[in-house]
Amino acid sequence: MIFEILTIFPDLLNSPLNEGILRKARLAGKIDIRITDIRDFTEDRHNTTDDRPFGGGEGMVMKPEPLARAIEHARAASQDESKVVLLTPQGRRYNQSIARELAQQLRIILVCGRYEGVDERFRAAYCDDEISIGDFILTGGELAAMIIVDSVTRLLPGVLGCTDSADKDTFSRNLLKHPQYTRPRNFQGMEVPEVLLEGNHGEIRSYRFIEAVRRTIERRPELLRQETFSPAEIKLLKKNDLYTVVQQIQDNHNA
Ligand SMILES: C[S@@+](CC[C@H](N)C(=O)[O-])C[C@H]1O[C@@H](n2cnc3c(N)ncnc32)[C@H](O)[C@@H]1O
Repeated sequence: MIFEILTIFPDLLNSPLNEGILRKARLAGKIDIRITDIRDFTEDRHNTTDDRPFGGGEGMVMKPEPLARAIEHARAASQDESKVVLLTPQGRRYNQSIARELAQQLRIILVCGRYEGVDERFRAAYCDDEISIGDFILTGGELAAMIIVDSVTRLLPGVLGCTDSADKDTFSRNLLKHPQYTRPRNFQGMEVPEVLLEGNHGEIRSYRFIEAVRRTIERRPELLRQETFSPAEIKLLKKNDLYTVVQQIQDNHNA
């Protein structure tokens, strides 16, 4: 998969792309990340990428022509269909299901805004999708682009060492992940739950499922509204007195 990132601050992206799983995925050829400096597509001697807003008002707006040239250059460099994603607080709110959707693409061009954002005509003419990473304002789209690259990359086949670990993450279902423990068995007087030490894998699966549901009820009950459970899971929920709580959450939503 190819990620092409358009930015006026290319150096900002170096470190996150050169550590950990992203680095390994790049070296293994699972992803290719190309960083394009929008300034390379300016035509004046000051490499101007922004200008004052028509109609007045605060801040500067990113000019459409350098952005358009950068996209056209990126498109010309490859035959593959590419999806252009504008990072903007006004876009659809990013989540794991959008990450899964993007992981199906061969090539994504991520456009990082700065200042007051991009000229509306560039947005209308060139952007296929607009994504916000949350209801807050960043100084630029670069960190948002990194969040997308990181979360999409770990979904690509063969990227994570343990093949099924992405399937069991929080949000792979509408459930938060169960709590995790490692050595030592006793930390500051707190013991690891006995069931995890006994080696009964069926019991461990049931325990983890129940803890995942418990945690979701406590922290993110709204997620459960869209979750469905197998007959075996319903039996477990009933045995642990959680079925009525889950049903109440789901009924309140449907009422
Ligand atoms: C200071 S922001 C511009 C905000 C704009 N004036 C507004 O109110 O919608 C500059 C750039 O940061 C990026 N950005 C800021 N917050 C973001 C968010 N929550 N999600 C994605 N990108 C964001 C966008 O690329 C945006 O063009």
